Amino acid sequence: MTPRPYRVVSRRDDLIDTVTLELAPVGDACPAPMAGQFNMLWAFGVGEAPISVAGFDDGVLIHTIRRVGAVTAALCASVDGDQIGLRGPFGTGWDLPRATGGDVLVVAGGLGLAPVRPIITDLLANRADFGRAVLLVGARTPDALLYRDELEGWRGRLDLDVEVTVDAASPAWRGDVGVVTRLIERAPVDPANTTAFVCGPEVMMRFAAQAVLDRGVPATHVVLSLERNMHCAIGHCGHCQLGPMFVCKDGPVVGWTDVEALLRIRER
Ligand SMILES: Cc1cc2nc3c(=O)[nH]c(=O)nc-3n(C[C@H](O)[C@H](O)[C@H](O)COP(=O)(O)OP(=O)(O)OC[C@H]3O[C@@H](n4cnc5c(N)ncnc54)[C@H](O)[C@@H]3O)c2cc1C
Ligand code: FES
Repeated sequence: MTPRPYRVVSRRDDLIDTVTLELAPVGDACPAPMAGQFNMLWAFGVGEAPISVAGFDDGVLIHTIRRVGAVTAALCASVDGDQIGLRGPFGTGWDLPRATGGDVLVVAGGLGLAPVRPIITDLLANRADFGRAVLLVGARTPDALLYRDELEGWRGRLDLDVEVTVDAASPAWRGDVGVVTRLIERAPVDPANTTAFVCGPEVMMRFAAQAVLDRGVPATHVVLSLERNMHCAIGHCGHCQLGPMFVCKDGPVVGWTDVEALLRIRER
């Protein structure tokens, strides 16, 4: 439960309200995370927030943080050399190897691109293990598109299909316009042999999961990542309870078949 000190070794302003921090341990490091897990990041004197692992490279953790309240504002205000407390990693991972031998369809909405970024980097590092690979990204506007340079790089590859759409275009936008679920209809995958990884706002995930199922992807091959208010992150306090599950421990990555009924109840 005690946060370990990490130092900000790099800070990048991604969007007007979103910052990516690279964090290196000051002393003992936390265990290496799996793709899909999250850490509790502590802004000293302010508080703690769960933040997904957006990358892990040579001991350095990458976290992308949107400023919505006191804790995330303090984290986003960090500069190189500042210290942050960190405990984790917590929760379940994406388990990309479950898709070995088949096609991979990754669907991300908004900040949901951060938690799925490690899927893409792991997939590209082990590209021969998978069939076709497709990344579909949706953002509200072109200005709200995360990791633009990286997306350009991925788009240039012959072994990864990347499609990007925005809800509302700017005059300079030459890409797709519309919700990300529309891209699912034409994603070049073999549905029966596909695993879909979905992350974004909950309403987007419900529609995206349905569109993936409508394409014929088996329900057992659809996984998504949930967000709930969290406090302890270790299954003790009950803050993150969703039906019978504690999202901090049984999630955040869950199978569609495990949460379908719970998410539909919330929809009414
Ligand atoms: C497993 C998990 C992974 C997460 N990963 C990330 C991540 O990678 N990057 C990231 O920026 N955030 C992530 N979040 C969300 C992040 O934890 C919250 O935004 C943060 O706890 C808000 O704390 P705060 O003190 O800044 O704001 P608060 O004071 O708690 O909230 C301020 C306002 O923002 C609203 N708010 C709270 N959370 C969100 C949200 N997620 N989206 C929109 N509005 C919100 C509140 O309702 C309130 O109105 C994750 C959450 C979970 C559970
Ligand atoms: S955050 Fe305490 S039980 Fe999940």
